[in-house]
Amino acid sequence: MAEQPPLRRARTAKWLSGRYDLNYFKGGTGFSRWRLGFCLILAVVALVWLGGELAAKRQTIYSAGSVSAAHSFFGSRCEVCHTTMIKGVRQVGGFSQTASDEACLSCHQAPDHHSQGTQPQSPSCSSCHVEHQGPVRLAHVQDAQCLSCHSDLKEQKRDTLIAAHVRGFEGSQHPEFAPVLKRLDTPPAIIFHHVAHMGKSLKTLNQDLVALQCADCHRPLAAAGHSDWKYRQIDLPSETTPAPDASHRVRPDSRRELMTMPSYTQQCAGCHDLKFDSLVADSLKHPESQKDVLALPGILQQKFQDYIRRHPEALRETPQTRIPEQNSTPAPRDPDTWVQLRVARAEHFLGQNTCKYCHQLEPMSGAAGLPRVKESGFKPRQMVNAVFSHEAHISVTCESCHVFSHSDNLQVTEKLLPGIATCQACHNGTPAQEGKAENGCFLCHQYHKWDPQREMFPSKYTIEQLTGTSRAADKQTEKPAGEK
Ligand code: HEC
Ligand code: HEC
Ligand code: HEC
Ligand code: HEC
Ligand code: HEC
Ligand code: HEC
Ligand code: HEC
Ligand code: HEC
Ligand code: HEC
Ligand code: HEC
Repeated sequence: MAEQPPLRRARTAKWLSGRYDLNYFKGGTGFSRWRLGFCLILAVVALVWLGGELAAKRQTIYSAGSVSAAHSFFGSRCEVCHTTMIKGVRQVGGFSQTASDEACLSCHQAPDHHSQGTQPQSPSCSSCHVEHQGPVRLAHVQDAQCLSCHSDLKEQKRDTLIAAHVRGFEGSQHPEFAPVLKRLDTPPAIIFHHVAHMGKSLKTLNQDLVALQCADCHRPLAAAGHSDWKYRQIDLPSETTPAPDASHRVRPDSRRELMTMPSYTQQCAGCHDLKFDSLVADSLKHPESQKDVLALPGILQQKFQDYIRRHPEALRETPQTRIPEQNSTPAPRDPDTWVQLRVARAEHFLGQNTCKYCHQLEPMSGAAGLPRVKESGFKPRQMVNAVFSHEAHISVTCESCHVFSHSDNLQVTEKLLPGIATCQACHNGTPAQEGKAENGCFLCHQYHKWDPQREMFPSKYTIEQLTGTSRAADKQTEKPAGEK
């Protein structure tokens, strides 16, 4: 010990001795005797309790706090998580304070993160899902767990293409959503302007005047097949709910709900038909794929052959085409030449008018003079690296998140997907305080790469093993022997 600083006033040993009771240890005062007795009683009670618990094979007393709500039902079966075997090695003493990942994986299918970068191993389950904190939601993982890698992702993966610096969700801590930025530089393959269709009366092919609602073209996936689409092609069966595709990787039992994207037959056909010729009043069936497009010349030929058989007088009429070279060719004398000429005209018309009305066209493809349309690329999920739920936001109007330009200038690219500022208006903290909606990473992101098409999980435990009690047998539905 360091030397005491010099005292201000000198104390002699005699002076000090006068301050203490020299007989203190010789006999006890009433109070100290009482205290000793009390301690002895406590020790005995504790020993009896411990012995009892040990005899009853209960381990709860060693616990560091009650386990999470979902695990509470087997919370007293410590050995289920604190396995005595860890990576095949038996732990001394039969109880280990660490809970192994293997123990968690004996009950859960929890696929890894997308990529681990330079870190050779994923963090342990219990570093993110912290136990013995009382009845909390384990999935509400602290942001710090994610930020340890995501505040400087380049350290993990030098060549990463995703945002490398995320520090939280407030202000500029989180980058603007990539799909929102990307949407502005890539013109969509389907030409469609919301402003041309919303907030005004439009004429359908039946000449009805209608005002469109968002739900006439977009519905939650689950509601898609619920009632007919109003503007669908009448002679086709209504579409069933589309199956989730691979871009739809969300935990199978989550409510995360997206919207349908339109198709011609279900949402446009009631107002836009596919005319190809001024004489033939027919309308084409909309091609579903590039293969269907290649079948178009054959279909057109069939339609014209039928027409000329029923209207032979059409041969005598001189066709006026908009293709200059064809105007100089003499009027066809036989039905075959008439059909050929008409097909070529129709193909040109489709490319210049009908299909071009809604599609970005690729340069003409080789053989036929047919248009080649750019793939629509409609996906049920635009923000593949996050999960959004329309279901959780049904109280909010569509337009308050999806603001479309009300400018009549149709050259402007629509920016419909909401940016981060829209979300931050509500998701601004921990809802322990009023005026806040949760903004932890776990709310919008998945750590695990859930796959809806998973293998059957080999379950390991019986009810008795988990609850530790035997249950009353269920009533048998079979009739007892002897009864009729
Ligand atoms: C659902 C699984 C689960 C169950 C059931 C469970 N634990 Fe734990 N326990 C954990 C996890 C996870 C940890 C954190 C250990 C780690 O970091 O690996 C832990 C840690 C502990 C620790 C160390 C605490 C510390 O601060 O380091 C003790 C002691 C403990 N548990 C006792 C018990 C006892 C006693 C029981 C039975 C009554 C029990 N546990 C039941 C999962 C469980
Ligand atoms: C004996 C089986 C069993 C073991 C072992 C087990 N769990 Fe669970 N866990 C369950 C059950 C059952 C549920 C509730 C059903 C569900 O939500 O999937 C659950 C729910 C969860 C949840 C979601 C609920 C919430 O609170 O957010 C997480 C996360 C979780 N477990 C993680 C773990 C981790 C980490 C471990 C290892 C320390 C572990 N589990 C060990 C059976 C188990
Ligand atoms: C051990 C380091 C590490 C931890 C911890 C970690 N990540 Fe990642 N994360 C990565 C790496 C590496 C990538 C892949 C980057 C790439 O592909 O370029 C990634 C990718 C992502 C992506 C984009 C890719 C995708 O498909 O979703 C998101 C979003 C993400 N992580 C969120 C999270 C969240 C939320 C947490 C916390 C629960 C978390 N990460 C914890 C290292 C980590
Ligand atoms: C007549 C059908 C129709 C109606 C009604 C309609 N939409 Fe759309 N919507 C479309 C089409 C077609 C696309 C694809 C446009 C594209 O690729 O440019 C689309 C795309 C979208 C997208 C995705 C944009 C993107 O960047 O990928 C959102 C969001 C959207 N619509 C919201 C709405 C909202 C909100 C309403 C109601 C105010 C609405 N739509 C009404 C047909 C419609
Ligand atoms: C209720 C009837 C109706 C439905 C349904 C409808 N449209 Fe239209 N659409 C119209 C009318 C009427 C116009 C002409 C509007 C104008 O000129 O102001 C139009 C104009 C257009 C235009 C030209 C203006 C622009 O937006 O660039 C395109 C392209 C278009 N529609 C595509 C579609 C697509 C794709 C669908 C299906 C997703 C669709 N429409 C569904 C009635 C409809
Ligand atoms: C009124 C608007 C409209 C017109 C006119 C139209 N389409 Fe489409 N087309 C759509 C929409 C919307 C989609 C995307 C959804 C779908 O698959 O139906 C589409 C999708 C397609 C696809 C599938 C593209 C892909 O993503 O693989 C092909 C091929 C196609 N159209 C060809 C044509 C051809 C050829 C014409 C002219 C005969 C035509 N379309 C006229 C609205 C139209
Ligand atoms: C709280 C804001 C919010 C509200 C309210 C909202 N959306 Fe969305 N919407 C989004 C976000 C974010 C996405 C991108 C989701 C994704 O693709 O991951 C989206 C995507 C879409 C898409 C593109 C397809 C898809 O699901 O990705 C359509 C279409 C759409 N919304 C229509 C609607 C309609 C119709 C309504 C009203 C019933 C609506 N939205 C209400 C935020 C909102
Ligand atoms: C009007 C306020 C409001 C706006 C704006 C808003 N949210 Fe939410 N959101 C909520 C509330 C409230 C919840 C429920 C939170 C909870 O469960 O703690 C929620 C839940 C969520 C969930 C979890 C859904 C589930 O069921 O698991 C996600 C993901 C989400 N929001 C993403 C977004 C995104 C992305 C945006 C921006 C495009 C957004 N939100 C805009 C209020 C809002
Ligand atoms: C309210 C919802 C919300 C919250 C909270 C949130 N994010 Fe995001 N985050 C998104 C959306 C939406 C995107 C865009 C997804 C995409 O690009 O597909 C995104 C993008 C990202 C990306 C980049 C992915 C890419 O494609 O570039 C990373 C990394 C990321 N978030 C990490 C985090 C981390 C770490 C946290 C916690 C501090 C967090 N996020 C909190 C909604 C959220
Ligand atoms: C870096 C942090 C992190 C690690 C490590 C981690 N998880 Fe998770 N886990 C999360 C987050 C964040 C969620 C919620 C988002 C999601 O579904 O991916 C989650 C969700 C879960 C769920 C589903 C919860 C629900 O809502 O029902 C289970 C089960 C689970 N984890 C088990 C595990 C197991 C088992 C391990 C170890 C093999 C593990 N986790 C490792 C962060 C982590």
